[in-house]
Amino acid sequence: MKKMFIAGNWKMNTTATQAKELACSISEAVKQLPDSSIQIAVCPPFTSIQSVGEAIAGSKIILGAQNCHFKDKGAFTGEISLEMLANINCKAVIIGHSERRTYFFETDSLINQKVSAALTAGFLPILCIGETLDERRANQTFEILRRQLDIGLENITLNNPDDLVIAYEPVWAIGTGIAATIEQVEEAHTWLRHYLTGRFDEIGETLAIQYGGSLTAENADDILSIADVNGGLIGGASLKADSFLSIIRFSMKYI
Ligand code: 13P
Repeated sequence: MKKMFIAGNWKMNTTATQAKELACSISEAVKQLPDSSIQIAVCPPFTSIQSVGEAIAGSKIILGAQNCHFKDKGAFTGEISLEMLANINCKAVIIGHSERRTYFFETDSLINQKVSAALTAGFLPILCIGETLDERRANQTFEILRRQLDIGLENITLNNPDDLVIAYEPVWAIGTGIAATIEQVEEAHTWLRHYLTGRFDEIGETLAIQYGGSLTAENADDILSIADVNGGLIGGASLKADSFLSIIRFSMKYI
């Protein structure tokens, strides 16, 4: 059986009012879906994370954060700890998104500290990796993915295949409206599965590998049908309940 995990990364979008409305719409629609093993998460901005948590309470939707600090508390102005997030029922956290790597200079070793802290705190880390267009053109895609995983997962041990999610997000496909082709997604996910199996043995065989990068209701059916694609990390198309729900419905075909 194929694992499916659909997560919405709302990025720096939605006011608290809009976020609550969106969360309520998604939550109501998800409650109408037939029971299935598919996992769903929404990752709103920090200003609305608590109210979104309340809006999705009682549904199967998991509350996720878009970032975290790796320390429990302290003098880190502007940062949010996993302890704070756990206290409001947040269960998952996106780590190492390309926007954080690019605009906030997050390094693979910082990302590794966050993954480690998230696992220790009992969170589900969604570790994002992906190459830029220049790296792809220079035939460095797998070298980059290997480096991001080698360092990002350094000293990480897993007890369960549900404890970690990898999101393959080619940087050139994020927010551009140009998703990777089926062949490109297939090639990358097959490579990633091979890497993860080498790294975590049997656990690596069933870790979820999401695709992210201009995943929409229009291309979701084709992309989610690929064997080693276990769902998606969705930006733009997660900001409308209708398109997010369409993607969820397509994912249900492949579990
Ligand atoms: P888009 O779906 O808007 O391309 O964003 C993808 C992404 O970055 C999800 O984390």
